[in-house]
Amino acid sequence: MIPSATSGPVVLLGCGRLGSAIVEGWLKTGAVAPSDLIILTPSEKPVAEQARALGARVNPPLEALEAARVLVLAVKPAMWRAALGPLIVHLGRRTQLVSVMAGVPAADITAASGRPAARVMPTTAVAQARGVAAVWSSEPQARETAHALFSPVADVVDLDAEAQVDAATAVAGSAPAFIYAFVQALADAGQGEGLSAEAASRLARGALRSAGAGVETDETLDALIARIASPGGTTRAGLDAMSDTGELERAATSAVTAAVRRARSL
Ligand SMILES: NC(=O)c1ccc[n+]([C@@H]2O[C@H](COP(=O)([O-])OP(=O)(O)OC[C@H]3O[C@@H](n4cnc5c(N)ncnc54)[C@H](OP(=O)(O)O)[C@@H]3O)[C@@H](O)[C@H]2O)c1
Repeated sequence: MIPSATSGPVVLLGCGRLGSAIVEGWLKTGAVAPSDLIILTPSEKPVAEQARALGARVNPPLEALEAARVLVLAVKPAMWRAALGPLIVHLGRRTQLVSVMAGVPAADITAASGRPAARVMPTTAVAQARGVAAVWSSEPQARETAHALFSPVADVVDLDAEAQVDAATAVAGSAPAFIYAFVQALADAGQGEGLSAEAASRLARGALRSAGAGVETDETLDALIARIASPGGTTRAGLDAMSDTGELERAATSAVTAAVRRARSL
């Protein structure tokens, strides 16, 4: 087993939507000092430029990777081999790999790189240090490294088996988009009941913020629902209408099943 490094730069490979969110969160919380951060990106990214201004290195000569304690893979699943391949000879023996990619098994990354790998499935709210991140690795050191990088920016949920990462991708990584889509549908329904587009959108977004405040407490989702839905009231009527048809459960199940299927086909 290759011993892991406990100090040295953190390399981020890919600074797209998720990579940028991760850098934002690290800068915001100080989880990774800018002087410890190396960003590899083919095109200029505003967040990478912000990090550079604070002391991060963007696309330095590849010899800089030799001292890296960890490389975070944040490119699209289809291009990780092409992106990582040329870097492997430059990585130090102790560099660990952390992948935030959907659908790429840790064993493939370890086989390609000869290094331990952890998988992390975060939401983009890591940018505001309010994300959630599922973590899995068979290697305790790699799992620990993933915790160190993501605990400051997310609620880290340890998974028992790698097979669960695909479900976590659906229920965490993708789910904010499912919830936004539902909120949009609520706003559209509000317009159908006579609200202006602007009022419906502001009210629905406000409802999402209010719901978010609820889950910041320790109360269960059932308790949060019960707090709003008094017997015989308007909320109860709406909830009953949703559960009578089973459409909500069907929509949630189809979205999660389709996302899991897609993750498995990547
Ligand atoms: N977005 C999410 O909410 C989310 C959530 C959980 C997991 N993920 C995972 O995160 C990964 C990235 O997703 P994304 O949404 O951030 O995609 P994205 O916005 O397309 O970002 C991918 C980035 O990789 C960069 N890239 C391509 N080739 C590269 C190379 N050779 N070296 C360095 N960087 C390279 C691209 O650079 P250019 O822009 O210059 O082309 C792009 O900015 C995916 O594997 C996805 O499964 C995403």
